[in-house]
Amino acid sequence: MKVAVLSASPKQQLSLTLQTVRALQKMCKEDEFDISFIKDVNNCADFEEKAKDADLILVLSSLYHFNVHGQLIAYLKNIKLVQGKPITYISTSGGNMDIPAHNFLRSFARTNGLKWIRSLSLLDEDILKEKGREELYRWFLYVKDVVNEKKPDEKSLEGMVVKVIDAGDDAEKTEKLAKQAVERYKGLGATVDFYNLREKTIKGCIACFGCYTNNVCVIKDDFDKLTEELYKDADMIVIITDSNYNQFSKNYKYFLDRHVKFGRYSHNYEFYKAYLVAGDISDSDMAELNQHTLTVDSLESNCMVDIYREEEFDKMIAESTYACSNQLYPQRNTYYYGLNLQFANLAYRLQRMTPKDYEYFKGRGYYELPQIITQTKPISNLEEGRMSCKMRLIAFEEMLSALDGPPKLTKRGTRTKLDAPATGNGGEAENKKKGFGLFKKK
Ligand SMILES: Cc1cc2nc3c(=O)[nH]c(=O)nc-3n(C[C@H](O)[C@H](O)[C@H](O)COP(=O)(O)O)c2cc1C
Repeated sequence: MKVAVLSASPKQQLSLTLQTVRALQKMCKEDEFDISFIKDVNNCADFEEKAKDADLILVLSSLYHFNVHGQLIAYLKNIKLVQGKPITYISTSGGNMDIPAHNFLRSFARTNGLKWIRSLSLLDEDILKEKGREELYRWFLYVKDVVNEKKPDEKSLEGMVVKVIDAGDDAEKTEKLAKQAVERYKGLGATVDFYNLREKTIKGCIACFGCYTNNVCVIKDDFDKLTEELYKDADMIVIITDSNYNQFSKNYKYFLDRHVKFGRYSHNYEFYKAYLVAGDISDSDMAELNQHTLTVDSLESNCMVDIYREEEFDKMIAESTYACSNQLYPQRNTYYYGLNLQFANLAYRLQRMTPKDYEYFKGRGYYELPQIITQTKPISNLEEGRMSCKMRLIAFEEMLSALDGPPKLTKRGTRTKLDAPATGNGGEAENKKKGFGLFKKK
């Protein structure tokens, strides 16, 4: 595949984000990456020509105040690209809320009639680790499949378990769609379980934070049994809901808030997740719903597929099936890092008060990031500034020189029982007995 890469960093060759494409060059040798830098924001002719011939346009930019660099905004004001051309984007950052940057590129693509492909959000240091490179590689395989318009085959979901939840407040809006979803996923070979939130008793969370002390919710209703059933063997969860202004149904909100219990300790399970919004919803409400849901979902560390409108029902079936069967879909939504990093940093600061949280995040590699900023003396001129940028690249150069060919693909979906979170193996009973976290017994 021919990829026209537009690198927006003012650092040009010294850009950290650029290193993702250098890694792709080493991992995907059959593909051709032609890299362009923004030298003059008023001169887009060369890149326009390259993009014409390419199968894909790949834009690179790190975050500058939660969005792309100003010179990319300036450049894209002037550019003319061939309609229908596939385009996507990679951001790298310190993990501080990169969703506006991704939304900017998506808006650019849609407004200019380009074919937008789900973008990838990485931390600066991610590709220094094997898992990060796998993430990048998997995402790129997904991008290639979208460019090549690969479709899932009929038995794509054989051996998979799909859970469809009708979360609507208004049965008239969601019931039929939920039943249709059940039939479609069955038709693709999945075992499908159906749940109706209207028939469950799920009371509102009372914010006692009891769950923070022992992972047990003090409210006794259908929530524990339902989530146990839902999550224990799910490969994919599909939520059909109606909307209230720019939010999901009240039923879903009651259900969601009780997940505070899992937000803190039970990130050990992994499944794909898709949402379908039934009924009418305005574009602006849909955008806000999207933003909110991405934020919330990131706390559960799930593999988010997307949020679809009712008229996108077929698209949801196709994309979610693709995601689940190929394990190739972008694994992380763009808020993923921001929120988890905040929790991780908090746990790091409160190490002694929240030892289990600390261990939990440490176990996921949050505190093993290489210290790549080695600058100790103040930078006083442009030359020293460049030197500092170069020093940040040392670890990348080392990694790239050893990189040759695709990474090992690991199996996703290490689902474990919900009542045996990172705190120990004894499950709820043991947690109750011992206590842990902030209120650990002496
Ligand atoms: C003016 C400015 C604003 C920044 N804003 C953010 C931000 O909002 N979020 C973030 O995670 N990093 C932010 N950063 C850090 C950059 O994303 C980081 O330096 C990045 O590595 C630069 O990537 P590049 O080398 O590809 O240009 C900012 C840096 C600068 C200089």
